[in-house]
Amino acid sequence: MTPWWKKAVVYQVYPKSFQDSNGDGIGDLNGIISRLDYLQKLGIDAIWLSPVYQSPGIDNGYDISDYEAIDPQYGTMADMENLIQEAKKRNIRIVMDLVVNHTSDQHKWFIEAKKSKDNPYRDYYIWRDGTDGEVPNDMKSSFSGSAWQWDENTKQYYLHLFAKQQPDLNWSNPELRQKIYDMMNFWIDKGIGGFRMDVIELIGKDPDKAISANGPMLHPYLQEMNKNTFGNHDLMTVGETWNSTPKIAEEYSDPARHELSMVFQFENQGLDQQAGKEKWDLRPLNLGELKKVLVKWQTDIDFDHAWNSLFWENHDIPRVISRWGDDGKYRIQSAKMFATVLHLMHGTPYIYNGEEIGMTNYPVDDISQVEDIESINMYNERLAKGYSKQDILKSINAKGRDNARRPIQWNDQENAGFSEAKPWLKVNPNYKEINVEKALKDPNSVFYTYQKLIKLRHENPIVVDGDFKLVENTGDSVLAYWRILGDEKWLVVANLSGEKQKFDHKVDIKKWLLGNYDERKSLENIELEPYEAFALVEK
Ligand code: GLC
Ligand code: CA
Repeated sequence: MTPWWKKAVVYQVYPKSFQDSNGDGIGDLNGIISRLDYLQKLGIDAIWLSPVYQSPGIDNGYDISDYEAIDPQYGTMADMENLIQEAKKRNIRIVMDLVVNHTSDQHKWFIEAKKSKDNPYRDYYIWRDGTDGEVPNDMKSSFSGSAWQWDENTKQYYLHLFAKQQPDLNWSNPELRQKIYDMMNFWIDKGIGGFRMDVIELIGKDPDKAISANGPMLHPYLQEMNKNTFGNHDLMTVGETWNSTPKIAEEYSDPARHELSMVFQFENQGLDQQAGKEKWDLRPLNLGELKKVLVKWQTDIDFDHAWNSLFWENHDIPRVISRWGDDGKYRIQSAKMFATVLHLMHGTPYIYNGEEIGMTNYPVDDISQVEDIESINMYNERLAKGYSKQDILKSINAKGRDNARRPIQWNDQENAGFSEAKPWLKVNPNYKEINVEKALKDPNSVFYTYQKLIKLRHENPIVVDGDFKLVENTGDSVLAYWRILGDEKWLVVANLSGEKQKFDHKVDIKKWLLGNYDERKSLENIELEPYEAFALVEK
């Protein structure tokens, strides 16, 4: 039997920015509950909820100080249970974010661990002596600088692959692993729909060999976790794996291996950065390369023995229409094009909150307007290295994580209907033009394209199970593919570019499914409009 999550569409909620219910400028659980009817209307099956656990908020909740408590800024455990129940009534499951590569430095385990070398919690984290008075090795933090932080009290370094307030847990300690499994079962017992696993590829690390991702113990730990927690439940699990190849993705998601349901892979993320450099070192996207990566992840994994997720956006990456489409003249067309191309592919699609109305990036002109720790650390590091402020801000405006973290634009009222108070992060001023209320009133809005695509998936097994086949020789800017199931054949055509493109294809059209321009009667010797995309059933 096909598991539910293969037919599902998942919607990511970034709680801090979704909906404020009590006028403090910060989104919260009751705010999410108040918007469940909207999400039901969109048609999604599950919500991936970014972290709402108790946290000092250094990394907006990805630094957890108590896994079994809700952060007061988001509400209470009773509110969380209420969210799970209210969502269930609408056939929506709540997938929790599982952040277990690291904790906050305010977690009681770390507060204990740093007290002394013989503290019972010491070994929950990764401590090493220095080498000749220097850091143990040259492992780097994803948030700039060394991954090793000196602890003056006990005269050792601890490992942090993210901020120094996010010490890495020592997964080689069996007692720690059991504590994590107990915590996961605590949440499973509350009736959640599964877990999105934060940077899970890092847990099998070997710090002494400077190996972080895809370490030797990664898959053994995941198999152990599966057996001790979600393995016997009807839950979905998705791992955040920046360093997956199709082969590695199969290792995670082959049902016979009892690890995860699927992974997020990020191969397209490197396409607009300079080779061998950081994400901040920009270069223009080549559409041919984007097309190649999209096709690779449809054809190089065996969907009978693996599963993949499909997404353009999340809370760590910029809005796709600003990045690779057009957030000006062709905003609506390019938003619909990205939606169509992705949602008719093989795999489980994810929508990041606001994507369904075509929200855009919003540039800043000074570092004081930036909230994200990753951008701020990089700014300071590069400033010290002699980069100009202007260059650094350019990178932040292109790739910074605040872009996708701005409050959801619900209506054209003050603060976009997100809050009665000043929001924690400034609302994009284009909310008068781009907002949910307006989208719902306009039958041609981006929202209804997403709604329709979700419906097509729910009603047509070919979208879930059909084979993917590329239409060859369409050039770099046009991506066209078939989905094929038995005698049924669907054709999807998308112009990835903002220029007209020639397209020539002989086809008998049985049924036009959807498109972002007028319906076409023939595809012979046509000129695709900028960002045109459509899908049809062949005779
Ligand atoms: C993941 C999260 C990101 C976070 C990091 C550290 O990449 O998606 O937001 O900063 O892990 O937890
Ligand atoms: Ca609030």
